[in-house]
Amino acid sequence: MEPKVFVTRLLPEEAMNQIYSFCEAAVWDGELPPPREVLLENLRDIEGLLCLLTDTIDAAVFDSAPRLRVVSNCAVGYDNVDVLEATRRGIIVGNTPGVLTETTADFTFALMMAAARRITEGEKAVRAGKWKTWGPMLFLGQDVHNSTLGIVGLGRIGEAVARRAKGFGMKLLYYSRTKHGELEKELGLQFVEFKELLTSSDFITLHTNLTSETKHMIGREEFSKMKNTCVLVNTSRGPIVDQIALYEALRDRGIAFAALDVTEPEPLPADHPLLTLDNLIVTPHIASASVATRTKMALMAAENLIAGLKGEILPYPVNPEVLRKR
Ligand code: DGY
Repeated sequence: MEPKVFVTRLLPEEAMNQIYSFCEAAVWDGELPPPREVLLENLRDIEGLLCLLTDTIDAAVFDSAPRLRVVSNCAVGYDNVDVLEATRRGIIVGNTPGVLTETTADFTFALMMAAARRITEGEKAVRAGKWKTWGPMLFLGQDVHNSTLGIVGLGRIGEAVARRAKGFGMKLLYYSRTKHGELEKELGLQFVEFKELLTSSDFITLHTNLTSETKHMIGREEFSKMKNTCVLVNTSRGPIVDQIALYEALRDRGIAFAALDVTEPEPLPADHPLLTLDNLIVTPHIASASVATRTKMALMAAENLIAGLKGEILPYPVNPEVLRKR
C-alpha cells in the first residue's frame, strides 16, 4: 500500500508527479495555507508531511499524526518546525538548502539597488502623473558602488551577496558566528565586531537564521548606532528586526531606508504603521521566487519526503541523528 502523505499547498507539477508516483497524497490546493484545524484534521493516518514555511509544525501537529515519520519543509529556513520535538519523537525533518542561494542573493541586491536609487518611489511618481521634468535634485539617492556593505551572517546567501558586492567595488564588512579566513582573502571581506559593522556600513544586509538569539537582534540600540544614511535590507526572517524600533528609526530618519522581503507578521497587514512611511520597500517574501528555483525547491522537498518514507537518509536532512538512532 502506498504511504499516505499530506501536502499543504499545490507545488509545481514535476514535484507533484514525483509525490503521486510514490504516495497516496492529499493536497491542500487553497491559495492560502490550510487553516490550523484543517491541517490537524488531515494528519491522522499520514506517514509523511510536506509543508511550507507558512505552516507551524509543532507538538500539536505531531500529536495529531501518530504515524508521522518525515516532515519535509519546502524552504531552507525551518524555524516554523519544532525540530527538537520532532527529533525527540523520532521524526525526520528535511529542508531545501543551497538551491535558492543565488536567486535570493540576486533579489537582495535588487532590493538594495531599488532602495538606494529610490526606484519604487520614482516609479510611483511616474504612474501618478507627477513626472514634470528632468530635475537636478529629483529623487537623489545613494551610490551603491564603492560604498561599504555590512553583511550579518556569512552563510551561503551572505557569501553570494558578497560576491555580487565585490563586482560593485563595495568595501565588504561581515559579522558572523564563524570567521571565514579563505573567503576573507578571496573576496576582500573584513570580519568586524557587530557594533563596528553597525556604525561603519552604508548598507546592512541580514542573512542569519532566526533563533532565540537572533530574534530582534536589530533593535533600538542597533539602529541608534547606524549612520543616518544607512539602508537596511532584510531577506532572512522578519523577526530578526524589531519592527517597532525600525518604524521609529525610519520615521525619525535615524536611518535612510529599509527594504524588507520578510516581516513580522507575514503577511504585513495593509494598515501596518510601517506602510505609512515612504522610505521603505516591502515585498511579499519572494526572494527565492524564480520559476527555476521554486521548481527545484519543490523537487528537493519531494525527494526528502520520499526518502523519509523509504526509511532512507534524506538527501537534505535537518536532524540526521534521528536515522542514526533508529
Ligand atoms: C526559505 O526557503 O527559507 C526562504 O525564506 C523561502 O523564500
